[in-house]
Amino acid sequence: MNDPKIIVALDYADANSARDLVEKLDPTLCRLKVGKELFTSAGPQFVESLVRSNFGVFLDLKFHDIPNTVAKACTAASNLGIWMLNVHASGGVEMMQAAKQAVDSSKEKPLLIAVTVLTSMNQQTLHQIGIQTDLTKHVLNLATLTHQAGLDGVVCSALEAPLLRNQFDKNFCLVTPGIRPANANQDDQSRVVTPTDALRNGSSYLVIGRPITQATDPLKALEAIHIECS
Ligand code: C5P
Repeated sequence: MNDPKIIVALDYADANSARDLVEKLDPTLCRLKVGKELFTSAGPQFVESLVRSNFGVFLDLKFHDIPNTVAKACTAASNLGIWMLNVHASGGVEMMQAAKQAVDSSKEKPLLIAVTVLTSMNQQTLHQIGIQTDLTKHVLNLATLTHQAGLDGVVCSALEAPLLRNQFDKNFCLVTPGIRPANANQDDQSRVVTPTDALRNGSSYLVIGRPITQATDPLKALEAIHIECS
């Protein structure tokens, strides 16, 4: 089965700008990530149009609410025909189990993963919200709860991937952003990993934005990374 490892982040403000890029890409080489900005502006119809164009879609809305609300949001998302969606592991086991049950009852059964600790947070910001645990331990704890709740994986840094891969079997997906081909601009990412190293570290899927979306020839950039990953 064709299972492209590259997920192109569609970080665009509106459907037209996103569509311009998508028309240049090949669904056999990549999947697409739709986040809060594009989803809020372009809506579920745009997501469905990507699905109709044969792209696997990762709907990155990071649901975090009471179990019943998250379950219903997961049902609605699953009905769009997407490939993957996510919730916050901090919502707790009961919330994740409700989400999993909703996804499993849907026709398409997309993969369900969880965000552990946002990479915009550090030890100090964790303390501010009352969490005294060491950040890495907290990531591991939330990833363990995600696994116990029966979800399919987590979003994590490719630098954390070896630690998590060591704890969980190969079917537990590690979805990693912060990827830069060897000679690419780092943009605002400070801790970057090349596609080859990320896969070697145990990443299952690589979220890549600007190295593809801002390239003069996005398809050529995608093909080059695809070859590097194969
Ligand atoms: O352009 P770039 O490759 O940096 O885009 C990476 C994508 O991954 C963006 O959509 C960004 O929001 C997302 N992301 C990230 N770091 C995280 C989690 C998500 O860069 N820790």
